[in-house]
Amino acid sequence: MDHSLPMQDNIILTDAYRRQFSYLRLSITDLCNFKCNYCLPDGYQGKSSQNELSLDEIKTLVSSFAELGFKKIRLTGGEPSLRKDLLKIIEICKSQLGIERVCITTNGYKLNQFLPEWIAAGIDQVNISIDSLSPEQFELITSSSDLPMIMAAIHSAIEDGFTAIKINTVLLREHLDSQVKPLIDWVKDKPIALRFIELMQTGENTELFNRQHVSANKIKSWLVAQAWNKKNRSIHSGPAIEYEHTNYLGSVGIIAPYSKNFCDSCNRLRVTAQGQLHLCLFSEDGKDLRPFLQAGDVAQLTQFLRASIYEKLPKHYLQQQQTGATRNFSMLGG
Ligand code: 5AD
Ligand code: SF4
Repeated sequence: MDHSLPMQDNIILTDAYRRQFSYLRLSITDLCNFKCNYCLPDGYQGKSSQNELSLDEIKTLVSSFAELGFKKIRLTGGEPSLRKDLLKIIEICKSQLGIERVCITTNGYKLNQFLPEWIAAGIDQVNISIDSLSPEQFELITSSSDLPMIMAAIHSAIEDGFTAIKINTVLLREHLDSQVKPLIDWVKDKPIALRFIELMQTGENTELFNRQHVSANKIKSWLVAQAWNKKNRSIHSGPAIEYEHTNYLGSVGIIAPYSKNFCDSCNRLRVTAQGQLHLCLFSEDGKDLRPFLQAGDVAQLTQFLRASIYEKLPKHYLQQQQTGATRNFSMLGG
């Protein structure tokens, strides 16, 4: 018998609808320095958050999730690289027994400096938001002129052998021409996983949503017509539907939150930078984990999480424009 795994390794957090949760999306700051027009069109408002979880609190949090059988942590924001102690946070997550993958989602800010640092710290995967391969359109969408630097950083990481790179692209009606096909061409000879994400309505983006929303189904049919094949799903697959092609090194994933049964494969929970548990991206409210985190009480926190999961609803109600507490994604990291 193998005694190398802790007993808790068998505990898998399951909800009332038999969904199993093994993936924590942890926001470590609300701050963001980009102004993506669907998220923070006027930029981040307010001071740098004074209230972010401390390293000790993060340690307590990840210990508890690891006890519950969580295997993967994604650090999000806002922009996680704006936290000065990010490398320490990566270290804390990496050293947690039971956590197999530590990933990060970034807007690409200073990627030429940060990507080598994260790789050296042992990051398992990096998701980079690139909404267009045209520097002009990229700047129109995000207000950042960094696209050439971001592309150079990605190419250099691949040359050095780091291939765990995903690209998030939010589909926008007006920019589709510089999105889907150019990105797919780009990954023909690169081991990059593209993710086309259907624009989601949030509390603050209704007007833009009405103008720019385009269904991801359009892209699904185009992929099939171009001989892309759906990959087999594993029980750890989240809501993305992934495609592969014999002539392409890269892959394409589609995230279509408005599609039927999208929530059936939900495998993730979210915690905000202030320690609020969100059972869904579109929950009406969060549950305050801070008292447990401040007390460093892993056992009580674990018990609280096990009880809370039964309140998770079977699905979101985005189709009915119920966006819940999510005013924008910088609060919750998407
Ligand atoms: N709809 C879809 N995706 C969004 N993102 C931010 N806001 C939205 C939205 N309203 C994306 C970001 C990033 C990821 C974390 O979520 O572009 O890639
Ligand atoms: Fe910042 Fe991400 Fe929001 Fe863009 S989508 S403004 S990068 S938090």
